Amino acid sequence: MEEKRRIAVIGGDGTGPEVVREGLKVLQAVAAKTNFLYESVNFDFGGDRYLKTGEILPDGALEELATFDAIYLGAIGHPNVAPGILEKGLLLSMRFGLDQYINLRPVKLYPGVDCPLKGKGPADIDFVVVRENTEGLYCGVGGFLKKGTKDEVAVQEMISTRKGVERCIRYAFELARQRGGRKEVTLCAKTNVLTYSHDLWQRVFDEVAAEYDDVKTYYAHVDAVCMWMVKSPEMFDVIVTCNLFGDIITDLGAMIQGGMGIAAGGNINPQGTSMFEPIGGSAPKYTGKGVINPLAAICACQMMLETLGQREAAAMVDKAVASLLCGKITNLSAGRMGYSTSEVGDLVVDAL
Ligand code: IPM
Ligand code: MN
Repeated sequence: MEEKRRIAVIGGDGTGPEVVREGLKVLQAVAAKTNFLYESVNFDFGGDRYLKTGEILPDGALEELATFDAIYLGAIGHPNVAPGILEKGLLLSMRFGLDQYINLRPVKLYPGVDCPLKGKGPADIDFVVVRENTEGLYCGVGGFLKKGTKDEVAVQEMISTRKGVERCIRYAFELARQRGGRKEVTLCAKTNVLTYSHDLWQRVFDEVAAEYDDVKTYYAHVDAVCMWMVKSPEMFDVIVTCNLFGDIITDLGAMIQGGMGIAAGGNINPQGTSMFEPIGGSAPKYTGKGVINPLAAICACQMMLETLGQREAAAMVDKAVASLLCGKITNLSAGRMGYSTSEVGDLVVDAL
């Protein structure tokens, strides 16, 4: 008999718990159909707990999370907590602490979904962004000099290590092979300005590329990538990029695939515990209204199933979501779906 897998669930802030509830509903249903055995354990990390206790991630929490097979996360960000505190203290602490060095963000337009790009369809928008997830401008290295004075200096440093860059680029090449499509990797950087950090990226990219004869390589500056993602998204198969650029271009990616309502991602540690989340925020203005779209969280659950080796279950969820998007759900925006958050979850379960 297969062993039971353990999933840590962090609903988090705002609409996070609402969308995670639907993802878990779908998980339970698909697990029953495929004999996937799992248990889930809830963690109350997030803004409310912080405001109550002053604690963000309790001692030993990372060690405990590391014992799970996967983490399923809703959203982090609370209107009553200053920007940066929860993001750094919780989200980035987990990404860094669990060494989830890849942020994997598929940009895929499902048939039936409205795309804001004129003349583009599902055949044109199907690529994956491999975002480095533990370095770059996200390290929080820097400081102030003479803060608050007219002579103030603020420094924020971008960290790129050969090891960090190489493992990320290698992952992108392996993924291009695995996808089995056009096998193309585009490096998205800014070598014309970031002449140290992205010089390293370019050199490591070329070194790794030399080991993958069967994979075609391209380079584009990040500003040009933004242009091409709108003008000719069919250019892309796998994009590999640094942490901040990946953050930015995947919000653009979410828009061309139909919006935040459908955009999912995984924070991957191929050797350890990975964490799956809808890429949108905690959406405070929709909190508690039951109008937020849970499909992004359901797609994140689908990615989690895939990573846990549950191919059949993952494929079933993907098919169920795809069938809804060609049928009952035509508008993906919060409040305009024609269904409540939990009704959308029910519809996915019915479609399984
Ligand atoms: C994301 C988010 C985070 C990021 C924030 C909340 C720190 O925007 O996951 O894309 O910048 O990585
Ligand atoms: Mn982001």
